[in-house]
Amino acid sequence: MKITLHSPLDMHLHLRDKEMLKVVAPLSSKSFAGAIIMPNLVPPITTIEQVKNYREEIYASTKEDNFIPYMTLFFKDSYDYDFLKEVKGFITAIKLYPAGITTNSEGGVSGLDSKDLAMTLEAMSELGIPLLVHGESNGFVMDREREFVTVYERLATDFPKLKIVMEHITTKDSAELLDRYPNLYATITLHHLLITLDDVVGGLLKPHLFCKPIAKRYEDREALLELALNAHPKVMFGSDSAPHPRSKKESCGCAAGVFTAPIALPALAELFDKYSKLDNLQPFVSDNAQSIYGITPPKKEVVLAKESFKVPSSYGEVVPMFAGEELSWKIEEVR
Ligand code: DOR
Ligand code: ZN
Repeated sequence: MKITLHSPLDMHLHLRDKEMLKVVAPLSSKSFAGAIIMPNLVPPITTIEQVKNYREEIYASTKEDNFIPYMTLFFKDSYDYDFLKEVKGFITAIKLYPAGITTNSEGGVSGLDSKDLAMTLEAMSELGIPLLVHGESNGFVMDREREFVTVYERLATDFPKLKIVMEHITTKDSAELLDRYPNLYATITLHHLLITLDDVVGGLLKPHLFCKPIAKRYEDREALLELALNAHPKVMFGSDSAPHPRSKKESCGCAAGVFTAPIALPALAELFDKYSKLDNLQPFVSDNAQSIYGITPPKKEVVLAKESFKVPSSYGEVVPMFAGEELSWKIEEVR
């Protein structure tokens, strides 16, 4: 059995920079037509100059492939209308992190009530720049996303014209928001469709499955599966593939992030096939994102075949999800 995906998109991707970028960027650009590139570098991407330089760095490692890096800026409440108007031509969206919530987010926002924040969001809304949100409070780890629901509700109500993407949703509560607020959208990762907290800490600790937001309960995973497998039109695939060197994962003080970029499409095909939902993979990995963001990615056809694929034990220093295991689908051809 085979399927052909047209211009698959990864709407949430960490490529890092320098040597790490050189290893991981081609693993996405080979099979994806484009990706939303996260700005949480050290230092974070906050200026037009940085956006341009980072885009050039990505192109330098992906130029053989037909791949668009859709650039983002790291949200600051100091951005004003004039700056946003100027930067708009270079970015696709702006990513908001609550301060300190995850990897390299120390410079994020500390309060969500300030007048400056409201002015920046109003300007984004007027200019049609989507807001991407890492939606977690600083409460108890299993409750962080649930506690953020009221923030999403307030943002969606106060800025009705602003497109707000709830990034990497992991809970039933977040899933339920989609049909209640016309301007709320969501990305879902591969790993949150596959694992629960049991897989991370229920047996021997699995550092390569540790990420933020942490995987939740079975009923939460069910709600995510329901959305993804039925290709809910407000939901897009965003891998949140977040590479860290092995030494940072298999260590005391494990960094958060699951590296899925090179196995994402075969693993998604396996999952959608298991539920007899292969027809819905195309909208989940491309069409929905094109409509939501109003983008037209380059043409790329990815042929996936139902044949066994042994996942490499590592890519450079980075260990992928399913390292050393067999998947039942593989990428046969990209054209
Ligand atoms: O697990 C995560 N890793 N979650 C994030 O939000 C950030 C990411 C990273 O950059 O490593
Ligand atoms: Zn992320």
